[in-house]
Amino acid sequence: MKTFSEIAAMRAWCRDQQSRAQTIGIVPTMGALHEGHLSLVRRAKSQCDLCVATIFVNPTQFAEGEDLSRYPRPLEQDLELLREEGADAVFLPTDAVMYPDGFGTYVNPPPVSLPLEGQSRPEHFRGVTTVVMKLFQIIPANAAFFGQKDFQQLRVIEHMVRDLNVPVEIVPCEIVREKDGLAMSSRNRYLSESERVTALSLSRALVKAAELVQGGEDRADELERTMYAELSACDKVDYAVVVDANSLQPVRRLDQSSVALIAARVGNTRLIDNRIL
Ligand code: PAJ
Repeated sequence: MKTFSEIAAMRAWCRDQQSRAQTIGIVPTMGALHEGHLSLVRRAKSQCDLCVATIFVNPTQFAEGEDLSRYPRPLEQDLELLREEGADAVFLPTDAVMYPDGFGTYVNPPPVSLPLEGQSRPEHFRGVTTVVMKLFQIIPANAAFFGQKDFQQLRVIEHMVRDLNVPVEIVPCEIVREKDGLAMSSRNRYLSESERVTALSLSRALVKAAELVQGGEDRADELERTMYAELSACDKVDYAVVVDANSLQPVRRLDQSSVALIAARVGNTRLIDNRIL
C-alpha cells in the first residue's frame, strides 16, 4: 500500500495507473476507521481496479467549539486496517498541504445543504463540498464511495457533482451497524458506558418508525412524535423528522421516497442516524 502526503505525487500515481487502464475508486474519510469505512473500501475494490482512501480531518467543516481538536487520530491503526482491507494507496495530507497560506476559494454548497444539518451546523457543508471537490481534483477517480450514514452529506455531494459536471460516479453505500443497532461512527468512542446505552435510542426510534409504517401509518407528524418519545433520554434532539429522500424537504404523508433522519446529543457527543422508510 502506497502512502502519499503531497498533491503532485498523489496525482501522478493516479495518472500513471489510469494510463494503464486501471480504474480508481476513492473513499474519503477523516480516519478513526471502523467497519463502516472499511465497507466502503471493500465496495470500491469490488467495483474498481484500485482503491485510494484519504484520511484528512478537515478543519473547514468544523465550527468553533466543535470537536476538531479532540477528533480521534489513530493513524498507525488506520493504516494497518487499510492495508488488511487491500487499499492500494492512501492520501494523508497535512492542513498546510490542503489549505496553504492564501487559500480563499470555497465551493458554495447546493440548497439541499440548507435544512437539518445546515440549520444545526451552518458552515459545515461548505467545508465538506470544498474539501471533497479538492480531493476529486487531486485524485481523478472514476467512482467515489460515500456512506448513507451521512445521508444529507451524500445528497449534497451528489448535487455538487451534478451541478459542477464533476466526472465521477457517486456510489451510495449501506449503513453499517453494531450488533445492537448503533450506527458505527468515529464519534462513538467518545461515549461512556451509560451514554452508549442512551445512544441506542436513535436506532431504536428509527426501527419504531419503520414498524409503524409497516403497520400502515403514513402521517409524518405521528412518526416524528414516536421518534421524539423514544429519544427522551438524549440530552438534546436537534431534529427527528420524516422528509423526502431527494429534496430533504418536509412531507405530510409518506410516499415511496421518504427517509427518517435524527440528530441528537448524548452528553457532549452529537450523533446522527437515519433509515429509509
Ligand atoms: P467520515 O465521518 O470519516 O466518514 C467517511 C465516510 O464513511 C463517509 O462517506 C461516511 O458516510 C462513511 N461512514 C461513516 N460511518 C458509516 C457507517 N456506519 N456505515 C457506512 N458508512 C459510514 O464523512 C466524512 O468523514 C467527511 O465529511 C468527508 C466526506 C471525509 C469530508 O471531510
